Amino acid sequence: MIRQSPDNQIESAFPPLARVPYHVGMIMDGNGRWAKARGLIRHAGHRAGVDNIRPTLEASVEFGIKVLTIYAFSTENWSRPIEEVSGLMRLLGMALRSRLQELHENGAQIRHSGRFTGISEELQKQILHAVDYTKHNDRIILNVAFNYSGRGEILDATRQIIKDGIDPDSLSEETFSRYLYTEGLPDPDLIIRTGGDWRMSNFLIWQSVYAEYYSTPTYWPAFDKTELYKALVEFNRRERRFGSVPDAE
Ligand code: IPE
Ligand code: IPE
Ligand code: MG
Repeated sequence: MIRQSPDNQIESAFPPLARVPYHVGMIMDGNGRWAKARGLIRHAGHRAGVDNIRPTLEASVEFGIKVLTIYAFSTENWSRPIEEVSGLMRLLGMALRSRLQELHENGAQIRHSGRFTGISEELQKQILHAVDYTKHNDRIILNVAFNYSGRGEILDATRQIIKDGIDPDSLSEETFSRYLYTEGLPDPDLIIRTGGDWRMSNFLIWQSVYAEYYSTPTYWPAFDKTELYKALVEFNRRERRFGSVPDAE
């Protein structure tokens, strides 16, 4: 985006950054509060939240992010009122129906992280189709954490490792990672949470051990390109040491 500065010089509103996180995890929180603040029902907030995925994905591509994992539904979210849960299920189905072609044409590869248990057969088929249909796209990966639980993911991986008869003494972190839903994806570098809270809520707990964490009070439906850029600027201020000492002091 280009804007005029006061002295009429053209400048970019988003100057290039030295470092761009390869993989960003997004805890899309605050839909309900966004709706309530406008006198709307929670479902209207979820609808606005789904509508905000496309512009965020576009902004992510522009900034050079290669993987965006969005937290859309946690296994804990089943405890919400039945109407809200079925509304969220319906919204995912509708989004996949109405947006799949466009996502595909824009080079997005869709992945799913989560369990199928509890999801209707039709929605399962839609998810599998979206993943298969877009599997060769490589502009950006949109990994949808839907019916996702970090602990559940670790348990699922452990069960499969035992079933596969992997020798316990040779089990490495690399092998373990290959059993996670995120198989093949690098760990997230940055986790953003909207809605003002500072917790992980069971999101990517294995993968995020060295992710930088960023929380903004902005509710998810109002989180825009400028907000994403602010998170990336903050990411650039962080010194990632990975347990080492800065610049081999
Ligand atoms: C996030 O918004 C969306 C989901 C968890 C599905 P919320 O629905 O949690 O919104 P708040 O936190 O109640 O405002
Ligand atoms: C986290 O939001 C889950 C998603 C964004 C899907 P929640 O609203 O469910 O998290 P808590 O309950 O505040 O921890
Ligand atoms: Mg919430």
